[in-house]
Amino acid sequence: MQLGTALAYIMPMYRPEKFWNRFAKRYEKSPVSNEDAYREKLKITRTYFTADSEVLEFGCGTGTTAVSHAPFVKHLHAIDVSSKMLEFARGKAEAANVSNMTFTCANIEGFSEGMADYDVIMGHNILHLLEDKEAVIATVYDTLKPGGVFVSSTSCISAMNRFLQFGLTIGSRLGLLPLVGVFSVEELVQSLKNAGFTIDYQWLPENSDAVFIVAKK
Ligand SMILES: C[S@@+](CC[C@H](N)C(=O)[O-])C[C@H]1O[C@@H](n2cnc3c(N)ncnc32)[C@H](O)[C@@H]1O
Repeated sequence: MQLGTALAYIMPMYRPEKFWNRFAKRYEKSPVSNEDAYREKLKITRTYFTADSEVLEFGCGTGTTAVSHAPFVKHLHAIDVSSKMLEFARGKAEAANVSNMTFTCANIEGFSEGMADYDVIMGHNILHLLEDKEAVIATVYDTLKPGGVFVSSTSCISAMNRFLQFGLTIGSRLGLLPLVGVFSVEELVQSLKNAGFTIDYQWLPENSDAVFIVAKK
């Protein structure tokens, strides 16, 4: 039996809601890692919005991105698996007097809504944290209106050595780290194309491993 398989028997499974509830306060206090790149991503995303846009963000975290985009769209539905993260997000929307947002505490894996409901779906810093990103990308595709876009920012860390990858697996089993998927930018692009998307915009900011992609249905 491989060591990884043996560990799966003796260590608890990674539960995203548990991990992120515990981490929410620290996440809220942590600064944006690359402010210029973040602002540029906001700017590019807004070129895809109209005043009539129906927008969904999954893994919205403490809501910084969702709340800043909300004034530019008709409605923004923000979901996250962590109720603690959502508490911060709701507080931010209230403080900013934003009234066109709704919040749902839900796991995106297994999430189902009406088909073709959204013009824009966002998933930032989340695709690499999912057990089955292909299934989520397929759900996103089905949930978008024809011509709608999926806007994502994703850390692609395939260059990491095997020792560190193993450390990440153990860390997530122990509840010290989230589950982290290892794939390259090319593999992520292929996953999006396999689901039926075409790539409308792709940008890897300097000194960053987080690729920003706008994929069109
Ligand atoms: C790294 S944070 C990113 C938060 C925000 N999107 C940002 O860019 O700052 C990941 C977020 O995804 C949420 N999350 C993790 N797994 C999830 C899942 N399976 N379904 C929904 N949300 C999830 C976590 O609770 C956390 O708020």
